[in-house]
Amino acid sequence: MSNNLQLNSEGKLKHFLTIEGLEKQLLVDILDLAESFIGVNDQRIKKIPLLRGKSIVNLFFENSTRTRTTFELAAKRLSADVLSMSIATSSTSKGESLLDTIRNLEAMYVDMFVVRHGISGAAHFIAQHASKHISVINAGDGQHAHPTQAMLDMFTIRQFKQDFSKLRVAIVGDILHSRVARSNIQALNTLGAAEIRVIAPKTLLPAQVETMGVTVSHSLADGLKDIDVIIMLRLQKERMTSALLPSESEYFKCFGLTPERLKLAKPDAIVMHPGPINRGVEIDSKVADGPQSVILKQVSNGIAIRMAIMAMAMQKQESFDG
Ligand code: CP
Repeated sequence: MSNNLQLNSEGKLKHFLTIEGLEKQLLVDILDLAESFIGVNDQRIKKIPLLRGKSIVNLFFENSTRTRTTFELAAKRLSADVLSMSIATSSTSKGESLLDTIRNLEAMYVDMFVVRHGISGAAHFIAQHASKHISVINAGDGQHAHPTQAMLDMFTIRQFKQDFSKLRVAIVGDILHSRVARSNIQALNTLGAAEIRVIAPKTLLPAQVETMGVTVSHSLADGLKDIDVIIMLRLQKERMTSALLPSESEYFKCFGLTPERLKLAKPDAIVMHPGPINRGVEIDSKVADGPQSVILKQVSNGIAIRMAIMAMAMQKQESFDG
């Protein structure tokens, strides 16, 4: 998927659809801008006027807790008017096409769509067909990409570990169906991580996964050695079309992150998970709630990162001090 659509003629961010093809400096600019927004969450009045007068519509065709809520809070922190549409009660349930829904919302003078959809490429499709002034942010499309999750993960890693070039990062679990894994692998490669190691059974890895710039392990015992950051993934059962595993309990026995297994990584390794977590399936509660877990920090960081991405995508239209 080309990134040309994501940038305007001056090379500024217009849409945010995928990490693929974006320059390292742009990712660093997003991280730095998010850093400057962190303090807004602690202000007495948690608002800055950067997007005052802008209208943002959250279009979530798939379930979400973290992404939808943090996008809505981020838009409100920036003083935008934000509307989270309930797709179940919208006219798409009466047979209206995606494009007709978009055209109708455009007629209401919307400036930005935040889109989550079960079909890979849906956000890209909307960006291609929406009016020129509208920005589209991908909040997760099928198995393809979850770029804002990747950026909040990079922000969290930088908060705890600073220098990407020294880091060995393990991504554990259902890589095959994970848009988070794809976007994180792209972001970590762009930011220059020393090693990205995927740890999974063969049935949960894409064909020729090494071409994505990762090393591969099929066991936690070998795979966690020397690791600084562990990103655990949920089994995406809703995307599995055949039986890829004997059972969840068998999976936990082989690939579940327990306190004993966590000791195989570096002593100061951090544990991450995009959520929703399935306790006792991919992660033990003692690890999820333990001192090395930064899972809820990821959630908090999602607000500042989404503020940064929305602000940068709107910057294409007017300067920040305009
Ligand atoms: N990480 C993530 O996308 O979570 P939600 O599905 O709850 O938005």
